[in-house]
Amino acid sequence: MNTKKIELSKITNIIDPIVGMREQWDLVTAEHDGVVNTLTAAWGAFGNLCEKKIVTVYIRPQRYTKKFMDASGRFTMTFFDGHMQELGYLGSNSGADVPNKIEKSGLHVAHVDGQPTFEEGKYVLVCKTIYKDALKPENFVDASLAAENFPDKDYSVMYIAEIEAAYEIEA
Ligand SMILES: Cc1cc2nc3c(=O)[nH]c(=O)nc-3n(C[C@H](O)[C@H](O)[C@H](O)COP(=O)(O)O)c2cc1C
Repeated sequence: MNTKKIELSKITNIIDPIVGMREQWDLVTAEHDGVVNTLTAAWGAFGNLCEKKIVTVYIRPQRYTKKFMDASGRFTMTFFDGHMQELGYLGSNSGADVPNKIEKSGLHVAHVDGQPTFEEGKYVLVCKTIYKDALKPENFVDASLAAENFPDKDYSVMYIAEIEAAYEIEA
């Protein structure tokens, strides 16, 4: 797999923060002890915090990928051109139940900066968690959003991560 580095200041020109995450989704992927797990994500944001270029993702506590993110302290976000069927599969099957779900999806793991991504991806961000905390129902100013989005009270953990590097995946 060949990659081309992207200047961090250009990320939002390349990955639309609303359309890219919300409508085309991405894979949040982490590795621990040589094992890789991934999930499909649609919630997230780009920004600036503590003078670092950051990305924020929201991961529910029951996600198997969360264990890998916590153990590793790093994760990647891989963006695709298409591949919605594969992302749909990875977003509806847990690695806790289907340990070979990546293989079954038909996507192929590759590495960049020692972190897992996918040969079929178009762009990848290498991210280092700098802050995490669970959303708290009492902190929703509009309580109906908490009720609508978390009927099972599985409040997402917000991961704020420094974007360490960004790459275009060429082949
Ligand atoms: C389009 C789409 C978007 C999703 N967005 C998120 C998200 O932002 N956060 C999250 O925790 N789960 C999200 N999910 C659900 C996970 O991808 C799904 O539960 C996955 O099977 C978890 O896999 P894991 O248990 O192996 O980590 C989304 C699923 C789909 C299909």
